[in-house]
Amino acid sequence: NEAAWHLLQQGRRAVDAVEAGVRVPEADPENQTVGYGGRPDRDGRVTLDACIMDEHYRCGSVAGMEHIMHAVSVARQVMEKTPHVMLVGDGALQFALANGFTKQRLLTAKSEAEWKEWLKTSEYKPQRNVENMLPGGKHNHDTIGMLAMDAAGNMGGACTTSGMAYKLHGRVGDSPIIGAGLYVDNEVGAATSSGVGEEVIRIVGSHLVVELMRMGLKPEEACRKAVERIAR
Ligand code: GLY
Repeated sequence: NEAAWHLLQQGRRAVDAVEAGVRVPEADPENQTVGYGGRPDRDGRVTLDACIMDEHYRCGSVAGMEHIMHAVSVARQVMEKTPHVMLVGDGALQFALANGFTKQRLLTAKSEAEWKEWLKTSEYKPQRNVENMLPGGKHNHDTIGMLAMDAAGNMGGACTTSGMAYKLHGRVGDSPIIGAGLYVDNEVGAATSSGVGEEVIRIVGSHLVVELMRMGLKPEEACRKAVERIAR
């Protein structure tokens, strides 16, 4: 929040602020659910999902991308430099490398050691947040999503994650999917999500929340309706 607020105070766009904001946990090896230091998939590969959206419905995303710490910034380049919205896997990596990003090892010693411990049972049971604990009482996810409004009254949003720990290789969650993990409509509002991505994809959660706000619901009511829909 501090990194994002710093840019907003300088009069920068909301989309700049949210990108700067989520880059902080992406670079933090202690945060094991986002970017560098993120927990790997069941094959020991750290694969990142991220997206970004601005006040003009412009958006970009990457999914299942390996070896690049700042997935949100690659997503931004997809938005700004290509006619596409989403790049995945090797294609996203290839694009990142062609655009000046540096390849690096994202699996830290800590996350690797925990993964090797997990391999002893290889038990994978994605459940809701409160029950979804790793040994030692840690959650096995979550995502960082950030929304901002700038001094001009424009909004932007970003969402980034390493996804569910020990997921199948190739699994993509809600975070890089525009409408599921993030949606920004400058006339109405914005929403982003964390939690079990499959549940959010099923109801296209972030778009649903924005559409409910368009119909006049307050943000809290809109979120409640979305969560109730998942529960039903
Ligand atoms: N919400 C993040 C994920 O399911 O990957």
